[in-house]
Amino acid sequence: MTIRAPGKTRGSGTRYGIKKPDGGEDLKEESQRLLLMPESLDQTFLSHYNGVAKLSGGFSDCAFADNKQRPIHRWVPWIAGFSSEFVRDTFKRYLPDKRAAMVLDPFCGVGTTLVEAMRGGHNAMGFEINPYAALAARAKCEAAAISPAQLNNYILKLQEHMRAAGTEGDSVSVPAHFRSRIPFFGPRAQPKILKALHFIKRPRVEPIQDLFSLAFGSVMVGLSNYSYEPSLSSRPAVGKPTQDDAPVTEAIVTKLLAMRSDVAWFREQLEGFPERPVGRVLPDNFLNALHHLDPGTVDLIVTSPPYLNNYHYIRNTRPQLFWLGFVHKPSELKRLETQNFGKY
Ligand SMILES: C[S@@+](CC[C@H](N)C(=O)[O-])C[C@H]1O[C@@H](n2cnc3c(N)ncnc32)[C@H](O)[C@@H]1O
Repeated sequence: MTIRAPGKTRGSGTRYGIKKPDGGEDLKEESQRLLLMPESLDQTFLSHYNGVAKLSGGFSDCAFADNKQRPIHRWVPWIAGFSSEFVRDTFKRYLPDKRAAMVLDPFCGVGTTLVEAMRGGHNAMGFEINPYAALAARAKCEAAAISPAQLNNYILKLQEHMRAAGTEGDSVSVPAHFRSRIPFFGPRAQPKILKALHFIKRPRVEPIQDLFSLAFGSVMVGLSNYSYEPSLSSRPAVGKPTQDDAPVTEAIVTKLLAMRSDVAWFREQLEGFPERPVGRVLPDNFLNALHHLDPGTVDLIVTSPPYLNNYHYIRNTRPQLFWLGFVHKPSELKRLETQNFGKY
C-alpha cells in the first residue's frame, strides 16, 4: 500500500502531510491500474545484483518469493514479506525527482521498504512490533556501516570459538520459560547451540552484534526438531524425522558469509549519495507513532500491512524471541500478541 503526501503544511487538512484517499473506489482503481501496468524494460531484462540475476518481482511476484534470493533481502525469510521490486517501482513513480525524501513504513517487518528507500537515496523510518523482525530490519539498515573486513574477523573468531574445546556455553542456558511439545533441539545439537550463543551474546560493536544475532535467528529453526510449514510445526507432525544433531557452526557461518558479501554490495549501492541515507527502526506499536514522528515529516508511506489472517507472527517467532532474549516469560509474549494487528 502506498500513500503519497501531497504537501507538508499543517493546515492542508492532512495529518503528517498524508492525504486520505477520497474513497475506497479510487484506491481500488489505482491498484488495478498499477497491477495492469506493463513492466518496464529494465525490469524485464536480466541484470546482475551481486551475482544474483534480477528476477521478475513486482506485482507478478504475488507471494514475494524473489526477495529470498536478493542481496540483503534474503537474510531472513518472513512470511508475507514484500517485493523489493514493487517498492522500488513506487519510489520511481511517487518520488521521481525527489532526493533524500522521508519514507515511512508503519509495519516494516524485516525492512524491505527501508532497504529499498535507502538504495533510492532516501531516509526511512519503520515501526515494527515484533522485536525479532525489528532486529532484522535494523541490522539491514545498519549494514552499510559495517566494515566487511571487521565482520570477517569476527566470523573467524566464531569458528575458532566453536572449534575450541571447553565447557559449552557456560554462561548461557536454555530459556527457562520456553516451552515446546518435543525437545526443541536434539541432544547433540543443543550444546553446540548454547556454545554458539555464548559467543553471539558477548557484547561487541553493535551492528556486528545484530548481524550475528540475526544469522543465528534465521537458521535456528532449521537446526531444530521444528520447521516452518509455513507455521511453526514439530518435524514429526509433518512427517519429518527429528534431528539429534545439527550442523550448527556450518549453518551460522554460511549465513554470515552471505551477509558479508551483501554488506559489501550494500555499501557500494549507497556510495554515490552526497549523504549516506539513514534507516531507523522503532521496535514499537505503530499506534504509538505520535510519540516518535513530527507532523509534516513524512513524504511517502509504503507498506505491506499485517493481514487479517491466521498467520501468527509472534507465535511463529517464539523460538527467536526466547532464545535471543527478547522475551523471557509468557506474559511478555502475550503483551506483544495483544498489540499485534491481526485476527487469530
Ligand atoms: C505483512 S508484514 C510486513 C512485511 C514487510 N513489509 C516486509 O517486507 O518484511 C506485517 C508486519 O506488521 C507487524 N505488525 C503487526 N501489528 C503491528 C503494530 N501494531 N505495530 C507495528 N507493527 C505491527 C507484524 O509483526 C508484521 O511484521
